[in-house]
Amino acid sequence: MTRWIATQRSEPVATKSWPPRRHGPLQWQPANVGWSDHAFDEHHHGRDRARVSDPGPAGYGDRMAAIYDRYVDPTVGATTQSAVDFLARLVGSGRALELGVGTGRIALPLAERGVQVHGVDASAAMLDRLRSKPGGERISVTVGDFADVPVEGQFDLVYVVFNTLFALLEQTDQVRCFANVASHLAQNGAFVVEAFVPDPTLYDRGQRVSAVRVEADRVQLDASRIDPVTQRVTSQHILIGADGIMLLPVELRYAWPSELDLMARLAGLQLRERYAGWLREPFTATSPNHVSVYAPASA
Ligand SMILES: C[S@@+](CC[C@H](N)C(=O)[O-])C[C@H]1O[C@@H](n2cnc3c(N)ncnc32)[C@H](O)[C@@H]1O
Repeated sequence: MTRWIATQRSEPVATKSWPPRRHGPLQWQPANVGWSDHAFDEHHHGRDRARVSDPGPAGYGDRMAAIYDRYVDPTVGATTQSAVDFLARLVGSGRALELGVGTGRIALPLAERGVQVHGVDASAAMLDRLRSKPGGERISVTVGDFADVPVEGQFDLVYVVFNTLFALLEQTDQVRCFANVASHLAQNGAFVVEAFVPDPTLYDRGQRVSAVRVEADRVQLDASRIDPVTQRVTSQHILIGADGIMLLPVELRYAWPSELDLMARLAGLQLRERYAGWLREPFTATSPNHVSVYAPASA
C-alpha cells in the first residue's frame, strides 16, 4: 500500500500545526494530511458516506472516521508515545478526561497504562472506531460538544490535543470550554492544551496554496484562507490521484497562547508550565507549537 503522508520532521520536535506550517510531524491540518490507496478508496467510493453530517461539531469526525487513522501520519507513533508519557506522569493514579477523544490515539495507550480515561467526542462515528479497537471497551465515552464538557464528576487531568481546541469556531465557545473544564478539575488537577502557535505570515493576501506532495501519479494540494478578524482558517486538502479527487475540508479558529492564558484566567485557572513539545522542549519566540499546562489558580 502506498502511503502518502506529509510528515516533515520527526521527534523530538513533538509538534503539530495548522494552518499550513513549516514543520511538525503531527499536524491535524493540513500538514500531516496524507492518504493511502485504501483510505482514498474508502472515502471516494462512498463507504461511510451516509454518516457525513451537516456542518457542526460532529461534521469533521463523521467525515473523517473511516480514514482518520490512516490519514494521520502513522509515523507520529513516537510523538504519541511522548504525549502519553507526559500525560501519564501528570495524572498519576487519578482520572483523565480527553476532549475530542476521536479514535483513541492518545486515550487507548493511556488507558493501557492503567489510567482511567473518559472521552468526549461529538462524532459517534469516531467513537465507534475507538470502541472497535482492542482496549476500546476500557474507555468510557460521552457523545457531545466538548465545549460543554458534558460529563459528571471531577478529573485529575483534562486534556485536549492535536489543535482540537481550535475546532471550537467561536471565541465564546473556547472561553466556555475553559470554564467548564475548570468546573470539572480536581483541586490539584491539570488542564493540558496542545496547539500550534498562529503564524499569519504564512499567508499571502489572506490565502495560501501549497503543494504538500507531488509524485508521478498523485498530488496533494492544500488551499487555505485566513480571516484575521474571526481568527479562522478555512482549508481544503485536495488529494488528486488516478482514482479522482478527494476533498477534505477543515475549519478552525486559532488563538495565540496569550489568548488561551486569558481564557484560563477567566475560568479561574493559571498557566503552570509551557513547553514547545511533549518532551518538555523550551518554549521560545520561534516555537511553532506549545504544550500548556493550566491548574486552578487557588491550588
Ligand atoms: C483531529 S481529531 C483528534 C482526535 C484525537 N484527540 C487525536 O489526537 O487523534 C478532532 C476530534 O475532535 C472531535 N470534535 C471536533 N469538534 C468537537 C466538538 N465541538 N465537540 C466534541 N468533539 C469535537 C472530532 O470529532 C474529532 O474526533
